[in-house]
Formats: sequence, structure tokens, C-alpha cells
Amino acid sequence: MSKTIIVSNRLPIRIEKEDGKNLYKTSEGGLATGLGSIYKDGDNIWVGWPGISLPEEEEKEVEGELIQRNMRPVFLSEAEVQEFYLGFSNQTLWPAFHYFIHHMRFKDEEWKAYTDANQKFADAVSKWLEPDDVVWIHDYQLMLVPNMLRQKFPNITIGFFQHIPFPSYEVFRMIPWRRKLLNGVLGADYIGFHTYDDMRHFLSSCHRLAGYSYNRNQILVKNRLVEVDSLPMGIDYDKYAQSAKSELAKAKEMAFRNSLGSQDLILSMDRLDYSKGIPGRLKAFDRFLDENPEYIGKVSLFLIVVPSRDRVPSYKALKEKVEFLVGHINGKYATINYVPIRFYYRSYPLDELSAFYRMCRIAMITPKRDGMNLVCKEYIASRENQDGVLILSEMAGAAKELSDAILVNPNDEAEMVESIKRALEMPIKEQQRRMQIMQQTVSKYTIFQWVDLFIGNLRGLKARQEAMATK
Ligand code: F6P
Repeated sequence: MSKTIIVSNRLPIRIEKEDGKNLYKTSEGGLATGLGSIYKDGDNIWVGWPGISLPEEEEKEVEGELIQRNMRPVFLSEAEVQEFYLGFSNQTLWPAFHYFIHHMRFKDEEWKAYTDANQKFADAVSKWLEPDDVVWIHDYQLMLVPNMLRQKFPNITIGFFQHIPFPSYEVFRMIPWRRKLLNGVLGADYIGFHTYDDMRHFLSSCHRLAGYSYNRNQILVKNRLVEVDSLPMGIDYDKYAQSAKSELAKAKEMAFRNSLGSQDLILSMDRLDYSKGIPGRLKAFDRFLDENPEYIGKVSLFLIVVPSRDRVPSYKALKEKVEFLVGHINGKYATINYVPIRFYYRSYPLDELSAFYRMCRIAMITPKRDGMNLVCKEYIASRENQDGVLILSEMAGAAKELSDAILVNPNDEAEMVESIKRALEMPIKEQQRRMQIMQQTVSKYTIFQWVDLFIGNLRGLKARQEAMATK
């Protein structure tokens, strides 16, 4: 019986230490939900990092516990976390792929750590791999793993999905190890991106940097047919819709409302990341209040920032910048009973998120660049009464599907300011018309369809490769 092996940097669980004990916290993330039905089934497994560096003597016990849950841990030392994860993955690839070229750095020792860590993941997979298995590798931290496995097992079925943007050739070519990265990914049979543009950029880099010619979305890599595709990832729509309708979410909304008063709320929710455009959004809100003083006291920004990668200097600096701007804007417009920006630096459980999604009539999601962005889809799914307005950056992958949002260029401050006014003044009929269309889109193409489509296409391609080989 063939099995499916999911591989990603993080496992769908993270270990946290409390009073010297290891606590296993399951991830609520979209990918973990979508792949839950796969890796928990039969002999299938998920290979990845449990998110903590543990003393060696604890690794055996943790491994045993995770094996029970169909997971196979890849333990990373503190040095590996520093150089592979915080270093090359998040200070070379992440900024390059999000077009923050001034944040990227090129360090030979971090490239070596990235290569070694990718080998470690490939070795962990090899240990469990059998010839008919399907391996599905996720994201930019593991771009070399497909080819490492291909070298060892020439005939296995490998899929790769990139969850962040793939940059234009002009940016990608700046990376010293660009060809190695491309050849690493090309070890896969089927390669997925969220958008057609990401896919196009990848194909162009394969051609211009590594000399591969391609026909539509197909590349021949040493006589092996590789296909590249765009498959926008969805959410578990029913989970968000049901949670927003629940009595618990409604009760929480009521309790929050009682403390907040009746002002209009604009939701801003992201991980702490410079790619999310948080300072730009704050500046636009400042200018909006400045240019539209009649709204002072009537509208607040509900700003949730989820802590992330806070050991990377650019993230630390961003946190300080956000705190400065929030202080500055609140100092400027606050009154005894009005707080312009309500700022929360933490993560929230689903029932509270649902209450926030219900309570904010506008969501402003304006990343400078984002592979997809699932928060905007969660917001849409949570709008039980089909009202509310989404202001969405053109630079988010989700904008390709959600043309009924107010689409903005996050670098155009005047347009961002105007979009806030437009959202606040949008007639209810127009809100409902747009929201209904967006709900149809998001409910139709969920995370479960995405998973089925990817696996189905990967298996279909493998069958075509085999038919080609026997001709
Ligand atoms: O968007 C890419 C991604 O890797 C997501 O899969 C993940 O939720 C997020 O970035 C944060 O990643 P991490 O905390 O693992 O660095």
C-alpha cells in the first residue's frame, strides 16, 4: 500500500515547555487543517520540525509521542535554527521572494546551513519512504529537498508547493545560489504556486538562469516531464462560518461591544512581518483622520499583530516602528472616550477571532506582498449577514480571486485613504452584493478542494509520465 508523506518546515504541532514539561499544542493553521485528513489517515505521515530545540536526552521521548500522532520530527539544534531558519530562510529567501531586497543578506555559512538542514529533512523522509509513496514538500525553507530525494529515488512521486510569492527573474537572479535552488525544486514532478504570476516567474527563471526550455506549463528535466501550476489555496469555509454563527462568538461580540461603544471598527490582522504593510496602513489611517476630522471619535482601527520571528532584527525593528506609530496616532486623536487604534500584540483562539470578524464592519488587509493571505478569506466566511467591506491589497495572491473587494495599491497612500472613506460610506446593498459574490468564491474553492486537486493532479501526471516511458 502506498502512503503519502507530507514534509514542511513546521509540524502541525508545536512543543512548548511549561514547568519543565513538554506540552503539545496543535496548530490551527490553514495547512494543518487541510492536510489533517491526509496525514492522520492510515500509514501516512508528516515530517517536520516541532518548533523547539530540545536537549538530546528528550528527543527520544518526544519522537515516541509524535509517532503516535503520525508525525516524524526533524530536530534542529539552536545553531541550525539560527542559520537555516532565522538566517537563510528568513533573511535571504523571505525578503527576496517578497521584493524586500534591502533586507536580504547573502552569507555562505547560512547557505551551507540551509543545504545541510534540507539534507536532514530529506534523510528523515528517506528513512520512511517506500517506492510507491507520494511525497508532498511544502515551501521555501525546503527548496532543495525534492532533488535530494530524486537523486536517491529516481522514480518516486514528488509534489512541491510554494506558499509565498515567487519573484521576478530580475530579483531571483540576485541570489548567489539561484541555480541550485531551481534545480532543487525541479526534483519534484508537480510544482504548485498560488498565482499564475508566481508560476510564470518561476518558469522564466528556469529558462533564463538554468537553461530549461518550457512549453506552456511543462518542462523536460533530463527526460522527466515536470509540470508547474497555479492553485490558489482556500480555507475551511464551514469552520469559520459556523464559528461566527455560534452562540459563543455572538456572546463575545456583545461583551466586546458593550465595552467599546458603537463606533465603526476597521480590522487589521497580520503576523508581525514587514511584508504585511502594517506601518503603511497606520499612516493611511492617520491621514484619513487628518483629512476627514468628522470621523474622529466615530471609527477605530482594531489592530491585531501576531508575534512572529521576533529574533530577526528587521522584525524587532518593525515592532518598534508599529509601537511608535500607534503611540503617535493615539496621542494625536484620542479623547477621554475615544481610542483611535486598539492595538493587541498576541494571537487569539478561533472563538475570539470570530467575534472580531463579526464586530468589524471593515477589514483592511493591505500587504506590500503576500503569497495568498487567508485572513481576508476568513473574514469573508465569518460575515453571517453578508455585509461588511474588504479593503484588499492588489499585492496579495487572494486579490486575483476577490475582485469584489476594494482593491488598493498599498504604496499609494492617497488611494488607501480614499478606500477607508469609500468603505465607511458604502451603501448596504452594495456591501451585500460584493460580499455575496466573495462568499460564493471562497466557499466554492476550499482548502479541502485544494488538497484534492493537488494530489489528484500529481497522481495524474505520474500516470502520464509512466505512459510516456512505456511508449
Ligand atoms: O506564509 C508562509 C509561512 O511559512 C506560513 O506557512 C506560516 O504560517 C508563516 O509563514 C509563519 O512561518 P514561521 O513562523 O514558520 O516562520
